[in-house]
Amino acid sequence: MTELKNDVFLRALMRQPVPRTPVWIMRQAGRYLPEYREVRGQAGDFLSLCKNPDLACEVTLQPLRRYKLDAAIMFSDILTVPDAMGLGLYFVTGEGPKFKNPVRTADAIRSLSVPNVEQKLGYVFDAVRTIRRELNGEVPLIGFAGSPFTVGTYMVEGGSSREFPNIKALAKDAPDVLEHLMNIVAETTIEYLNAQIEAGAQAVQIFDTWGAALEGDDFRRFSMASMQKIIDGLIREKDGRKIPIILFTKGAGPLLADLAETGCDALGVDWTTDLATAREYVNDKVALQGNLDPATLRESPEIIRQGVAATLESYGNGPGHIFNLGHGITPDIDPDNLGALVDAVHDLSPKYHP
Ligand code: CP3
Repeated sequence: MTELKNDVFLRALMRQPVPRTPVWIMRQAGRYLPEYREVRGQAGDFLSLCKNPDLACEVTLQPLRRYKLDAAIMFSDILTVPDAMGLGLYFVTGEGPKFKNPVRTADAIRSLSVPNVEQKLGYVFDAVRTIRRELNGEVPLIGFAGSPFTVGTYMVEGGSSREFPNIKALAKDAPDVLEHLMNIVAETTIEYLNAQIEAGAQAVQIFDTWGAALEGDDFRRFSMASMQKIIDGLIREKDGRKIPIILFTKGAGPLLADLAETGCDALGVDWTTDLATAREYVNDKVALQGNLDPATLRESPEIIRQGVAATLESYGNGPGHIFNLGHGITPDIDPDNLGALVDAVHDLSPKYHP
């Protein structure tokens, strides 16, 4: 194995001392970059890009050529998992993801099974191996999956949703059916993430974008319990290094205290909870990742720098902070503004690591 040249990200995830705060950006490979749009055009569409390991590798590396980032994230999507279960994923421009065969009824959910992950998602593991080879040890590679509840919202609603009427009805009227769905997706996700780790992913993030749409008890019963199950099933060490796990529940707020007890190494925090408060919730048990409002990237480089300074100050001194946005970068951002953010993290963070 090639030796890792920059491990500040992995060390910060384990709350070990670092000389500065590491930084990466959710959705760092994406539509705000003209070179991404170019390669997506070459592939034909987004899903074909995900399924082509060489092109997926190329777009993974693009943001690293522009910015001094401390991690790469494999280019893929959380909805490849239900696609592998036979739901038929497709994207409609302007409307986002859709499924040909959503699973709305108890019968449809009960007939789901764990797919052959090597066979159906082999293109993801090929991409991971290709990316690791091309990264040549510059920075670590993050693998990822969606949380069973977040993935489940798309499977049950058939696409993006604001209110989640169908899956929320299941939580109340047929909780055993929803629990079955959570279990099948969790079991598939364990195999999926472990195969990413075997292929070379050096940390993994679980994206729980919609879990906090549930009320507290339902959040713990469905979203948190299924993430806990995944954590319990993951490979935790490879080639003599720990494989850190990051959970990102958007809008978790005080639930961060519960999430810190799941055995994860780090929690993603969105901008609705400041990092000082989040740090109190988790009592320094886990590292924290975040949390600048992505909207700040529409402002001037000076305002962006002030936002970075305030975020670093809010976390304060000591290890265990990974700089990121509080959610993904949006397609309308000027790429130079992300450069201003990354440079500001490099300039301003060393003083928090005395
Ligand atoms: O962070 C990264 O750079 C890795 C790539 C990544 C993508 N999607 C690429 C993508 C990751 C980690 C995701 C996760 C994802 N996908 C989530 C959870 C995280 C989040 O942002 O909330 C969700 C809910 C999805 C499902 C999904 N895929 C949606 C809602 C969309 C947006 C549709 C749209 O038109 O805006 C996608 C498409 C998608 N996934 C794009 C990218 C770069 C844009 C597709 C394109 O190029 O047209």
